[in-house]
Amino acid sequence: MNTDECHRVRIDFGSRSYPILIGAGLLGDPRSYADLPLAQTALIVSNVTIAPLYAQALQRALAAHYPRVLLLTLPDGEAHKDWPHLQFIFDCLLEHGCDRRTVLFALGGGVVGDMTGFAAASYMRGVPFVQVPTTLLAQVDSSVGGKTAINHRLGKNMIGAFYQPVRVICDLDVLRSLPEAELSAGLAEVIKYGPIADMALLDWIESHLPDLLDRRPNALAHVVRRSCEIKASVVGSDERETGVRAILNFGHTFGHAIEAGMGYGAWLHGQAVGCGMVMATLLSHKLGLVDAACYERLRGLIGAARLPVVGPVLDADDNAGRYLDLMRMDKKSEAGEIKFVVIDGAGRALVRSAPDALVREVINASCREH
Ligand code: NAD
Ligand code: GLY
Repeated sequence: MNTDECHRVRIDFGSRSYPILIGAGLLGDPRSYADLPLAQTALIVSNVTIAPLYAQALQRALAAHYPRVLLLTLPDGEAHKDWPHLQFIFDCLLEHGCDRRTVLFALGGGVVGDMTGFAAASYMRGVPFVQVPTTLLAQVDSSVGGKTAINHRLGKNMIGAFYQPVRVICDLDVLRSLPEAELSAGLAEVIKYGPIADMALLDWIESHLPDLLDRRPNALAHVVRRSCEIKASVVGSDERETGVRAILNFGHTFGHAIEAGMGYGAWLHGQAVGCGMVMATLLSHKLGLVDAACYERLRGLIGAARLPVVGPVLDADDNAGRYLDLMRMDKKSEAGEIKFVVIDGAGRALVRSAPDALVREVINASCREH
């Protein structure tokens, strides 16, 4: 497949609308970057793992459009999604005399994408940026919708901005080099779209899971496209998460507590989200929203996707209390009241609070020492 055959999903933000291109062979094809904002300089931001694999192909393709193409290589990992490493991007831009037309290209997974997007949002009060996501998770979720951020030691993604890219380029070929655990982490975000928006997608994932785990191009193309369609539709109607966009955080309230409690990077984001969805489904069951079969079904699928279904113990003395403290830091919390995304079993999600005692029951039933 090339740019002539690729799928296009449009995300509608009026004059800030943009296309998501999905296909094989897109990253190194200069046509993928046609008609982007004109500039003297393009800056590719990547990391030490991804740059050796793909930066040269991207540099060559961009050279057809930009007189100067720079590459900044950051260290790899969630632990570096922080203020000092954001500063490296600003240092690079300023040291090379980059003006306000400079276009940034995020070549990497969600960490690189979130950081580059935030740098683009704030450099000279905003420069254009393009997402070139290289993980499944980034292709189906983080590169789409304009959430950009870095972590603070007291909370994940606490410092950031809503800032939309001008294009997203999902080259399915790059998923071939993804480590297995990262593929599964991406599948967590794919599975997420089923219970919150499209039960037919959940059926499809269940029946094609071996193809997805084998990275069959057609199976990957299907889930990346359908996930992007769902995300584009949700985000297009609620860019700043004043309402419906919150459903995209299904599993994330518990998941963020796992990530923060274990120390960023100890669990992959997608692993924490997968386990968090198991916990959020149990909470939905205890709230009387879904039956036990629905809980077992989702738990089974998440486990079959090689994701953890048992939460870690974060505090041997009061594990549930530790989870609750961490979840109160969640951005959805209001006046210290935790808001959970729960599901109804028919492909819809809603945001609800729940009594601490019930949440404690869920945590106690879901966690053990790993
Ligand atoms: P990541 O960016 O850390 O990438 C995972 C690992 O895979 C890294 O080691 C990376 O170097 C490597 N890698 C990436 N592409 C590769 C490839 N093609 N071949 C080989 N190795 C490759 O993790 P992620 O799962 O992509 O993203 C997680 C981050 O995304 C978290 O920080 C999370 O908060 C954020 N996120 C943001 C949003 C959003 O809406 N902005 C949504 C979901 C997640
Ligand atoms: N990943 C959740 C969102 O983009 O809103």
